[in-house]
Amino acid sequence: MAVFFLAAAVLFLLLAGRSDAQLSPGFYSASCPTVESVVRQAMSQAVMNDTRAGAAVLRLFYHDCFVNGCDASLLLDDTPTTPGEKGSGPNAGSPTTGFDLVDAVKTQVEAACPGIVSCADILALAARDSVNLLGGPSWAVPLGRRDATFPNSTGTATDLPGPDSDIPALIAAFAAKGLTSRDLAALSGAHTVGEARCASFRTRVYCDANVSPSFAAQQQQGCPASGGDDSLAPLDALTPGEFDNGYYRNLVVGAGLLHSDQELFNNGPVDGVVRLYSANADAFSADFAASMIRLGNVAPLTGTSGEIRLDCRKVNS
Ligand code: HEM
Repeated sequence: MAVFFLAAAVLFLLLAGRSDAQLSPGFYSASCPTVESVVRQAMSQAVMNDTRAGAAVLRLFYHDCFVNGCDASLLLDDTPTTPGEKGSGPNAGSPTTGFDLVDAVKTQVEAACPGIVSCADILALAARDSVNLLGGPSWAVPLGRRDATFPNSTGTATDLPGPDSDIPALIAAFAAKGLTSRDLAALSGAHTVGEARCASFRTRVYCDANVSPSFAAQQQQGCPASGGDDSLAPLDALTPGEFDNGYYRNLVVGAGLLHSDQELFNNGPVDGVVRLYSANADAFSADFAASMIRLGNVAPLTGTSGEIRLDCRKVNS
């Protein structure tokens, strides 16, 4: 009997170990040892030319991971028979900058290591590099994801919360992906970089009761009560283009740009975490890095599932 329990315990540990070991930072150390430097180099050029390109790629990573897991399904173009994820839900109308940049990085990775590195892993590395190049933390990215062979165009509308979401809906959307409310608070700090369209924050700056009056007046100048839907404003007006804790310093004074941003500091369950991050940039950086790793672990394809796409926009034929 004792032998049986011992064998069961060993089997359990092996299985537990295997699931933990599915993604690992050293996944390409033999098959493509230069992948990290190739991605870093390409991202560094792009972000130097246009800081928004880094923000765009970071957002793509989140939008990919939340719909069918981190499997590059978001990167697939529409086909005559299958609509992709790019044109639906919150992706509709987004600039193509991020997709174009991922293509450029993939081309360079393919030149170094043909057919080895998945688009899903390239996106995970590019998102990490974006954060770091804009002044934020860095971390070892667990790798070994494979690419989806089909998109989920309806998942974009159901799985990604919108800017009008309240705190319970935000927490529920993250919980549905196995992420905690602290992950929600930390990952939302990505809104320390990048921009939003007037259409995404109009009701916030005209109708919300918990908005700072001076901040609302300032934002209304660039975002009319009707029309001008595509006028842009920085998500973090305090330090736009800099990956720091400015986002939280805005929230504690009622200057969150999106309704969903301000929901994180509105007498709710993550107020304390927001206050911590607003006062302690290191605590934010450490939590952001850890939460990005957890986001990157959402339902990846591994082993022999999926494929290593040669062109991130289409499945291999
Ligand atoms: C918590 C729920 C979230 C909501 C409701 C939300 C919503 C939005 C909206 C409405 C925009 C502006 C889109 C536009 O007007 O064109 C935006 C931009 C952005 N989001 Fe989020 N987001 C959320 C979480 C996240 C997370 C977790 C990340 C990354 C880890 C992220 C990264 C970004 C970035 C970097 C931008 C700027 C993109 C650019 O400048 O092109 N967001 N988000």
